[in-house]
Amino acid sequence: MKRIVILISGRGSNMKAIARACNAEGWDATVAAVISNRADAEGLAFAAECGIATAVVDHRAYADRAAFDAALAQAIDAHAPDLVLLAGFMRILTAPFVARYAGRLLNIHPSLLPAFGGLHTHRRAIAAGCKVAGATVHFVTPDLDHGPIVAQAAVPVLPGDTEESLAVRVLAREHVLYPLAVRWWIEGQLRVTGGVVEQLRGEPQLLA
Ligand code: GRF
Repeated sequence: MKRIVILISGRGSNMKAIARACNAEGWDATVAAVISNRADAEGLAFAAECGIATAVVDHRAYADRAAFDAALAQAIDAHAPDLVLLAGFMRILTAPFVARYAGRLLNIHPSLLPAFGGLHTHRRAIAAGCKVAGATVHFVTPDLDHGPIVAQAAVPVLPGDTEESLAVRVLAREHVLYPLAVRWWIEGQLRVTGGVVEQLRGEPQLLA
């Protein structure tokens, strides 16, 4: 049984979607812990209610990123994870941290990468006149919001969309996309060659 640790900073709706899918679909996996850098992250309560171990590693208690990442890695490793997931985790991670979990660290980003890395993705997509937006699950590399793309979900940008209305449409797809990508990883269905991820059963890596 594979062990998953999920890192959050806030609402935790993607974490919930993954925990629910793991149970409902009977994955050969368990969410071993949910760890937040913020004690007030809403998602921690849900995790605790589900009987999932929780921990807080407050970045403000550490002098620099290296010290925080070392403490975070210690908290993660206490749960002996096979897979570590960033799900709305709002800290930039150092290269040594990323290297420690190479090949077993995934992130979800609310844009069609490589467009719109960083913050305010929906606002920027609307301002650019994009007709399509979406979300990306990718392996994490030291470059922020880069790394081999596991799967993407596309949604239309509709006339009159606001940052908020587009975010709602994208988030609904995130809750399908991220559990799917995680299940593929658990099942050993992902192969990365030269920075490109292949789904070994040939399942579509684009959700429309
Ligand atoms: C999501 O939009 C995710 O793509 C981004 O941060 C948001 C987190 O939402 N990385 P939640 O905490 O999972 O509800």
